[in-house]
Amino acid sequence: SASLREHAAARGKFIGAALATSPLANEASYRNIASTEFSQITAENAMKWDATEPSQNQFSWSGADAIVDFATQNNQQVHGHTLVWHSQTPNWVQNLGADAMRSAMQNHIAKVVGRYASNPAVVSWDVVNEVFDDNGNMRNSFWYQKLGDSYIADAFRAARAADPDARLCINDYNVEGVNAKSTAMYNLVRSLRAQNVPVDCVGLQGHLAIQYGFPGQVQQNLQRFADLGVEVRFTEIDIRMQMPRDASKDAQQATYYSNVINACLAVTRCSGVTIWGFTDKYSWVPDTFSGQGAALIYDESYNPKPAYTAVHDAL
Ligand code: XIL
Repeated sequence: SASLREHAAARGKFIGAALATSPLANEASYRNIASTEFSQITAENAMKWDATEPSQNQFSWSGADAIVDFATQNNQQVHGHTLVWHSQTPNWVQNLGADAMRSAMQNHIAKVVGRYASNPAVVSWDVVNEVFDDNGNMRNSFWYQKLGDSYIADAFRAARAADPDARLCINDYNVEGVNAKSTAMYNLVRSLRAQNVPVDCVGLQGHLAIQYGFPGQVQQNLQRFADLGVEVRFTEIDIRMQMPRDASKDAQQATYYSNVINACLAVTRCSGVTIWGFTDKYSWVPDTFSGQGAALIYDESYNPKPAYTAVHDAL
């Protein structure tokens, strides 16, 4: 039967995966599935600040270029992730004073976005990532402490200047359903657009867990962002479980994956769904959430799981 990417294309959506550079370089099975099943690629780590600008104004492109080259060879789009974040950002950035920090941010965006601005594969960027805390207040990050919330508008303006054609996104987690945090994000996006700040897109990460239930009012949440005139997308879907796996957890997980796809299909301005990896062999989940795992659509031996069938059948 046809691949996920063929089904998604027939629905006018992308189906994406985050890729890690080491298995991409070393494992043919990883490359085969990544190239045949997905139409859009996100670098799991290779485009983050610590990877691209480890020392000030000294850029290192090997990982980012490997992702972009792979996508280009396989007729895939690249979603750039991520320009401004509180995590995986070198200490030299965090130690700057306010004016120098703002300049370093603008330079980083100009160089990273600028490198791929004329490359037709690279179509969008997560400009800012995780700017809220779970109550919907601004996260008290080093960015916010030094610059207040002005860094957000400045980051979007710098990204637009570096690539007028790229779609520019704000991205966060626990904003899939309607809740205090997603409402804060909605209000921020509305306010930025009212000030002509170039926000084109809202990314809902979607790191879900079957034991926490499926978020409420996901389609309504997508729709309210869409009604602001922005594109919406799921950017980092994984659906973890308490280990060990069993058939009933797999079935629950498959239902959650279909729910995500169906919510996107129901909203015209939802452009697609990216999964945070594809094989349980390579996933951040077991390293991050103790005792949990098996969050992706292929098992550790690259066999499709019920979640794969659910995504395939929903598309
Ligand atoms: C994670 C990666 O998957 C890990 O390999 C890395 O060690 C930490 O970051 N939200 C994001 C992603 O926006 O960049 C994070 O990726 C997962 C949470």
